[in-house]
Amino acid sequence: MEKPELTIDKMAAFCKRKGFVYPNSEIYGGIAGFYDFGHLGVELKNNIKREWWKSFVHQRDDIVGIDGSIITNPMVWKASGHVDGFTDVLVDCRKCGSRFRGDLLIEDKLKIPTAGMSLDDIAKEISRHKIKCQKCNSELSEPKRFNLMFSTNVGPVQTSSSMAFLRPETAQLIFSDFRLVQENARLKLPFGIAQIGKAFRNEISPRDFLFRMREFEQMEIEYFVHPDTEKQEQCHYLDEVLDYELNVLSADMQKIHNQMERMTIKECLSKKIIKTKWHAYWLAAMHKWFVGLGAHAERFRIRQHVKDELSHYALDTWDLEYEFPFGWKELQGLSNRTDFDLSQHMKHSKTDLSIFDEEAKKKIVPHVVCEPSLGVERAFLVFMFDAYTYDKSRENVVLKLHPKLAPVKVGVFPLVANKKELAEKAKQIYNELKKEWVCFYDSSGSVGRRYSRQDEIGTPLCVTIDFQTLEDFTVTIRDRDTTKQIRTSVNELKNVISLFFSGEKLTKLGKLVEQS
Ligand code: GAP
Repeated sequence: MEKPELTIDKMAAFCKRKGFVYPNSEIYGGIAGFYDFGHLGVELKNNIKREWWKSFVHQRDDIVGIDGSIITNPMVWKASGHVDGFTDVLVDCRKCGSRFRGDLLIEDKLKIPTAGMSLDDIAKEISRHKIKCQKCNSELSEPKRFNLMFSTNVGPVQTSSSMAFLRPETAQLIFSDFRLVQENARLKLPFGIAQIGKAFRNEISPRDFLFRMREFEQMEIEYFVHPDTEKQEQCHYLDEVLDYELNVLSADMQKIHNQMERMTIKECLSKKIIKTKWHAYWLAAMHKWFVGLGAHAERFRIRQHVKDELSHYALDTWDLEYEFPFGWKELQGLSNRTDFDLSQHMKHSKTDLSIFDEEAKKKIVPHVVCEPSLGVERAFLVFMFDAYTYDKSRENVVLKLHPKLAPVKVGVFPLVANKKELAEKAKQIYNELKKEWVCFYDSSGSVGRRYSRQDEIGTPLCVTIDFQTLEDFTVTIRDRDTTKQIRTSVNELKNVISLFFSGEKLTKLGKLVEQS
């Protein structure tokens, strides 16, 4: 598969031009790291979240969802380690005052990975390679740690005791609500709790459009298993993924040759590259989810964190990475968090969060064997990059989004705008179709131009009402990807569209229209 030539800046410009994503408050000069979703972007984003929730909550028996609040008791963040340890390395320019993330300055200049570098190492590299301010080329300050949590005050008086944080991840709400959710949903191990919601991080260097933002959304699952190693290894879903292939880059491979290898999940487990069955299962399940929604399988790899890179809570972490135009980057983190979080919250809240093991007749603290944590906006970028295709013969962009993700499902056009009967019939059909799907009615410009406009925003089907419709009550339907058209009766239209969206080929669903 060819690497996309599309840069992240071109993608940002396309998203703005077509109504997907706008820089926030642009009329006032904007604000770095914040974006607004336009009329098409909000549909795509909602579709991504809906598909994720359907796959990982509604279609499973072992996972339930919650929706926690953004502001919570600050003790949550003390217990989780975020107050003391959720930091990045900040360096400022001594002359112009610009601020940079120390590790990213090194990555940009030396093109080396910096994962896990200590404050001292970063200081040494900056001084050794005489790295300067990216804006004015002046001397940089000594690096220091900077906490990424946004703070606010709750209530009318601003004191240190009224201070609270905007959540930097959704995960902690799952742990703090753990007891209530487990009891009320009567969950038995192994089980998961899922959540989709906003997270806020005061990133030092927000960059690459939606990739590193200050306000974004996460889709997270905490998957809990029994603490006994033997029981942890009972993964009932493993058979579904044993033969599934992934590009793999383990910590050892990074040390030896830094080349990824294509392997099945079975091989990864038998060679002990992935340590637990659950971790292997979730890595494959998440990759499958992307591919099932039209992403290109070979643009993904799984990469294990090297020892120094692991977060304070993680026993083992694998990232699902994607080859963005600016390199292989983390799309989703999948960590084994053990019982770190539940134990911390038990200690700090003095509340028992253990559950009773009926078989062993004792209390146990479940382990999070895997926490798949995915940014909605990073998923948004992946689907956009993989869908974006420039079609030379059509001379326009065709956004080949999976029909489930496409913001508009059906375009409806009267062949010509100035014929009253055609317009009336087209409006009638449009009003009927929009009861089922998001539709767009367009009567301006040539039909060819209208097709191009829908191609560019990813609309899978366009229905045209022409003069023949007035005679025999049939319409044409055009497939975005093939440009093939069929003719079908209006009475059958909803049925044909439903069959197409459930996976049938359009050409099998009606009489093929000869195109000149
Ligand atoms: N609960 C674990 C956690 O939050 P993380 O690796 O810090 O782990 C998980 O974040 C995911 O959230 C990332 O893989 C990414 O998809 C998304 N994410 C993190 N920071 C982000 C940012 N500044 N902008 C956009 N997405 C971000």
